[in-house]
Amino acid sequence: MTLDLSEYITQVNVALNEYLPKRAGYFKTIYDAMHYSLEAGGKRIRPILMQLCYEVVGGKESIDAYLCGIEMIHTYSLIHDDLPAMDNDDYRRGKLTNHKVFGEAVAILAGDGLLTEAFHIMLGDALAHGGIERLHAAYLLSEASGVEGMIGGQVLDMESENKEIDLETLNMIHLNKTGALIAAATKMGAILGGGSAREISLLEAYGKYIGKVFQIVDDILDATSTMEELGKPIGSDVENHKNTYLRFYSIEECYQIAEDLTQKAVALLNQIDGDTKILEQIAMELIKRRN
Ligand code: IPE
Ligand code: IPE
Ligand code: MG
Ligand code: MG
Ligand code: MG
Repeated sequence: MTLDLSEYITQVNVALNEYLPKRAGYFKTIYDAMHYSLEAGGKRIRPILMQLCYEVVGGKESIDAYLCGIEMIHTYSLIHDDLPAMDNDDYRRGKLTNHKVFGEAVAILAGDGLLTEAFHIMLGDALAHGGIERLHAAYLLSEASGVEGMIGGQVLDMESENKEIDLETLNMIHLNKTGALIAAATKMGAILGGGSAREISLLEAYGKYIGKVFQIVDDILDATSTMEELGKPIGSDVENHKNTYLRFYSIEECYQIAEDLTQKAVALLNQIDGDTKILEQIAMELIKRRN
């Protein structure tokens, strides 16, 4: 059976347009810049994982605000990651990067706008809805995307440029710059859906494993893919003297490590009562992904 996530992708895209409508008037420039990067596409893997984990533990209502929240935070992180002061990349999601179109100042503010609006949307929903789960989910995302998560990982990634680092430090970079948001997606879904403590921790651990696989494959694709297929420049890591998995292992070894991690992720799913078939398929697909 092939994995078709188009229904979920549409759900995320519709929700993004609802929660962040286009606006004319005084603030048109910043709305345009935010929409430019959001609409450039992207796999929407984080909100999809959240929705699936939500369904696995029995969630039935709409959690669109949180699907939008995590995708907006992810998109902001990409806009900033591409800035000249960071990875200095010209293409993202098959289009010119935000700063190439809108200039650096607006691109920085578009990132700030997406980050701030994400919490505005989630907290507005939590207030309207009441209950602790929604607040808890927003809190978790602030932690995962913050200093002890994605931001910390990004700083460590930059500090490690042009340096010899050990594998432990590289793992710390991966776990935080990429893994934190992916594990937050799965954990938030489980919490929003009212999962048991055991389900929450199993789904979070699943997210951590596939988050690591995700970055290992990202590192491989940076070295082996093409700009057309990937939608972003290849060779960016070598150009920036980044430490990646390829500094430590051959491509074959990287895939073997990713395979072992995928098996561990799937083993966790097997301990959950709900239907985890799609989550299993996603884990298998992530290792084979070409973009
Ligand atoms: C790219 O993330 C940045 C990393 C954390 C490796 P994705 O590969 O999910 O990017 P999009 O959202 O599909 O563009
Ligand atoms: C970026 O890692 C992770 C975040 C944006 C938080 P990379 O720098 O490897 O991502 P790409 O390769 O530019 O997408
Ligand atoms: Mg980077
Ligand atoms: Mg980058
Ligand atoms: Mg990369």
